[in-house]
Amino acid sequence: MFEGHDTTAAGFTWSLYLLAKNPEHQALVHIELDEIFGNDTHRSITTNDLPKMKYLDLCIKEALRLYPSVPLIARKVKQEFRLDNETLVPPGVDIAMSPWLTHRDPNIYPEPENFLPSRHTPENSSGRHPYAYIPFSAGLRNCIGQRNVFSGSGDSGFNLSQRYCLAWKVKELSKAKTDEI
Ligand code: HEM
Repeated sequence: MFEGHDTTAAGFTWSLYLLAKNPEHQALVHIELDEIFGNDTHRSITTNDLPKMKYLDLCIKEALRLYPSVPLIARKVKQEFRLDNETLVPPGVDIAMSPWLTHRDPNIYPEPENFLPSRHTPENSSGRHPYAYIPFSAGLRNCIGQRNVFSGSGDSGFNLSQRYCLAWKVKELSKAKTDEI
């Protein structure tokens, strides 16, 4: 299936990037994995392990908030509909919805640029509008693969996080080098 490969790869890559940039959260992921696997870094992951990876799950959710793999969703209107009291949308109009912008609305997510996985705990997300978090879109045409994503990324996330520490290093180009480019 074509759908799902690029979106999962992008989501996973951003998750690793954010864990590398936020070592305090990476440390919590390590603690969680140590509790599940002890010293056995080579045991294969099972489906029973996945529900225990609660903090890793929150980190992936937060990565998909900050960097939704599908930042823009577009539709062509086929049938007239009323958006609100002032707006009647006629057929033929192109509409774009942006998960990226929704996820960075400070009224919904205070300090929107910050990586804060705890936003997604059941307590902290209760009362949030169901369309405030839409990395998988919503409604009739939402993503059919979203359940696989969390298990699949969790699997790879476990393998990487259990065996490695991720670090972020930016190599700064000197002015002289930049001029050579
Ligand atoms: C992080 C991973 C993923 C993200 C962020 C994601 C996101 C999305 C989004 C936003 C849509 C709606 C697009 C639109 O309405 O224009 C969508 C649709 C879809 N996704 Fe995913 N997806 C992911 C992984 C997957 C996986 C793993 C699969 C397959 C196993 C998959 C299969 C599909 C399919 C078939 C649709 C079309 C559904 C329809 O039109 O009825 N996705 N996805």
